Amino acid sequence: MAAFLEISDDSKGHELSLFCVPKHYEDDLDSVIIPNGLIKDRTERLARDIVRDMGGHHIVALCVLKGGYKFFADLMDFIKTLNQHSDKSVPLTVDFIRLKSYCNDQSTNCVKVIGGDELSALAGKNVLIVEDIVETGKTMETLLKLLHECHPKMVKVVSLLVKRTPRSSGYRPDYTGFEVPDKFLVGYALDYNEYFRDLSHICILSDRAREKYKV
Ligand code: IMP
Ligand code: MG
Repeated sequence: MAAFLEISDDSKGHELSLFCVPKHYEDDLDSVIIPNGLIKDRTERLARDIVRDMGGHHIVALCVLKGGYKFFADLMDFIKTLNQHSDKSVPLTVDFIRLKSYCNDQSTNCVKVIGGDELSALAGKNVLIVEDIVETGKTMETLLKLLHECHPKMVKVVSLLVKRTPRSSGYRPDYTGFEVPDKFLVGYALDYNEYFRDLSHICILSDRAREKYKV
């Protein structure tokens, strides 16, 4: 299995008051579980691993919206930097897909494509799917099935987070940033009913906030 940074189940995270958090979310979060700087440092290394493995060919990076957009942007920046400073470089193009599978804090069985580029354009390409978090694995399994119908040459998946949960289908991405406890996480583009994308650190959502932002 690919290497990852493990955040243990008994990790309480860091006290909120030690970091800068928007005032409007101060009462909604239990703790900071992954500070922004650590996300960036781990992403830099993922970029290096991906270029090492896929760098022989043109890569199409497919961003899974909306939750993947921050990780996608930072990962692309690190790959660009590697390209700029190496004798060997790899052309990179980007595509976007929008999926929806979540309501409140529950993964639903129904994964829907609700927008984005035509997947048929990925035929014959080396595709890197960039996702925020894998929980049950259903979203990624559904997307991989859809993608394979379009006959790409190669598909790899990088997910910033993988949740340790008994609800997992057993699916694991090719590259993982962090393995995290079975808690609902927000920030760095991960949302709860669209809130908390405007938060830099990955934080544990409080029970109170689950009620407050419920739809
Ligand atoms: P899966 O299909 O159960 O693997 O769920 C994957 C999707 O659910 C992710 O792409 C997220 O959009 C969402 N998700 C799962 N867990 C969390 C979480 O802790 N915070 C925010 N979104 C989550
Ligand atoms: Mg997602």
